[in-house]
Amino acid sequence: MTKHIPVLLQDVLIELGDIRSRTIVDCTFGAGGYSRAFLKSGANVIAFDRDTNVIPDAEKLYQEYGDRFRFINRAFSELNQLSATDFDDIVFDLGISSMQIDNANRGFSFRFDGPLDMRMDNRIKINAADLIKNVTVDKLADILYLYGDIKKSRLLANILKEHLPITTFQLRDLIKNPKDIAPVFQALRIAVNDEMGQIESALNTVHDLLRSGGRCLCVTFHSLEDRIVKNIFNQWTNVGGDPRLPETEKPKYKMLKTVKPADSEIQNNPRARSAHLRGVAKL
Ligand SMILES: C[S@@+](CC[C@H](N)C(=O)[O-])C[C@H]1O[C@@H](n2cnc3c(N)ncnc32)[C@H](O)[C@@H]1O
Repeated sequence: MTKHIPVLLQDVLIELGDIRSRTIVDCTFGAGGYSRAFLKSGANVIAFDRDTNVIPDAEKLYQEYGDRFRFINRAFSELNQLSATDFDDIVFDLGISSMQIDNANRGFSFRFDGPLDMRMDNRIKINAADLIKNVTVDKLADILYLYGDIKKSRLLANILKEHLPITTFQLRDLIKNPKDIAPVFQALRIAVNDEMGQIESALNTVHDLLRSGGRCLCVTFHSLEDRIVKNIFNQWTNVGGDPRLPETEKPKYKMLKTVKPADSEIQNNPRARSAHLRGVAKL
């Protein structure tokens, strides 16, 4: 199976600085590329991933690093289960991993035939085929338009509702314009996993939990998630977050420079081409 190559990892390490003895929350464990690098640099790591398939990789790190590593097989929207004193920095490397996209049975890719599933976590109740079946034409058109920027979204929503695809190739073959195929798959994946809701609710928790001097870093892969992260970080750095707090008690943040992958990284790992690293430091 394809091994996931971590994206922008060196830049993440540079932004974090000296992490010896710090505790970092890696919200998106994946193949553990980030977690391993943090542990090697002397940090303690608490890692989240909602996908049960990553557990064997997490167990390997536990065997190597013992108590310095803890894995939580939950969605990162459950970050609020941690207590504020547990950690220093919080890192998100959003989207899906190479292992997920390249596994035909997961149904994420139009390059392989498989069940139209797309759930990152098998505890999610509705997969992509059921979503198409269960939602109204209007709701489906909204999903295609908002998350995939599909121009004739209502027309396509009607076609999908009429044919109810249950495999990736059935869905692919119903999409007339080849340029729409990747965005339609992306739109359904975002909806099935509530990706935008997950980011918003996690970042709202980060805002409450991040220690003074701590950093929150996010690697995003498409404009929608990047916009959410950018807007939330702008809010924090401009107004200090929670408008209910009196001015003197508002936490202050500094925006870190946005980083994009160098050409050499993109050549080595084409998945990196749309990545952006954004971050804030709590003062
Ligand atoms: C791009 S991969 C991370 C790769 C990782 N940084 C590495 O170096 O191996 C994203 C991972 O985040 C997980 N993920 C995405 N959304 C999540 C969420 N809301 N909660 C927990 N895990 C999530 C996915 O299951 C996937 O394994």
